[in-house]
Amino acid sequence: MSSLIQALSVALDNRQALLAELHQQGTDCYRLFHGSQEGASGLTIDRYGPQLLVQSFHTRLERDDLLALHAHITAHLGVDLLLVYNDRSQGNSRIDREDTVYQADAEALQDLIGHEWGLNYRVRGRHPGQDPLLFLDLRNTRGWVKQHSQGKSVLNLFAYTCGVGLSAAAGGAKEVCNLDFAEGNLAVGKENGALNPELPTMQFIQSDYFPAIRQLAGLPITQRRGHKLPPYVRLEQRQYDLVLLDPPAWAKSAFGTVDLLRDYQSLLKPALLATADNGVLICCNNLAKVSMEDWREQVLRCATKLGRPVRDWQIMTPAADFPSQDQQPPLKTLILQL
Ligand SMILES: C[S@@+](CC[C@H](N)C(=O)[O-])C[C@H]1O[C@@H](n2cnc3c(N)ncnc32)[C@H](O)[C@@H]1O
Repeated sequence: MSSLIQALSVALDNRQALLAELHQQGTDCYRLFHGSQEGASGLTIDRYGPQLLVQSFHTRLERDDLLALHAHITAHLGVDLLLVYNDRSQGNSRIDREDTVYQADAEALQDLIGHEWGLNYRVRGRHPGQDPLLFLDLRNTRGWVKQHSQGKSVLNLFAYTCGVGLSAAAGGAKEVCNLDFAEGNLAVGKENGALNPELPTMQFIQSDYFPAIRQLAGLPITQRRGHKLPPYVRLEQRQYDLVLLDPPAWAKSAFGTVDLLRDYQSLLKPALLATADNGVLICCNNLAKVSMEDWREQVLRCATKLGRPVRDWQIMTPAADFPSQDQQPPLKTLILQL
């Protein structure tokens, strides 16, 4: 047995209990192998419903190794999964579209449906963006939102494909608003809504974060010296009962810079102000080099200084399909009761 298959066997054994639980709760999207944490740096293997998505970020896999991984997983799960291999080890880590190692079947590259917490999600092995359409390490948070949304107004910031919004709608939210500046991501969010026709419809706002959240929070929209602001969507000041703030690690736009290392506060402050009294703000930081302790202190201090002290907080960790040897997973999530 090759060392890679050996590492995969251990990873699958470690997930035995989790997979049984996930299948029972209506989830067939999960990580089966988590890179260096399980013995192969830069290699991730995810199941997205009928599809097996293998991605290499550091070293391209040999074809025989790839096929052996696929065969091993198929036998272990007893499901014939459609294989897609994205080698992202070259250059800018965009998907290698030349498929020199393995050409996926047309069926594997079609629009497919995966499931999580009993909900349907659009899955696509290849699309113009870099990441799969559902971030699997946020599953526990989506589950929490589904359980705690009954009767609430919910604002999903940096919504991507609107998984958190969909979970809130499934949990009985009275209103769900998804906000993101990328039209393509919101389009998948709309598809996700359509794939769950029994749920109430969600709202979608295509806007840059900064002008949108500052208007909701009742703060002025500032202009950098010498830079005229582009037009932006007009919104009324208002608060939501449950707000999710899950920004990317870094992004720059005409309105401001998302920088989770140096300036989490400028994202957090308006989000706190847009959260109702007795409401909940769930905030995330996916930058590996920021520790939970430092970030949590920063978040709590910022809330106190703003006059919105946190009454209670809880850490939400990714599930066991994202093992972390040092117990410091890159994705950190805090659930703040205001
Ligand atoms: C890390 S993803 C968020 C993941 C998402 N919360 C989820 O549940 O899957 C980052 C998202 O932020 C969006 N984004 C980045 N900068 C933005 C900005 N300045 N304003 C609005 N959206 C932005 C991107 O389009 C992308 O959809």
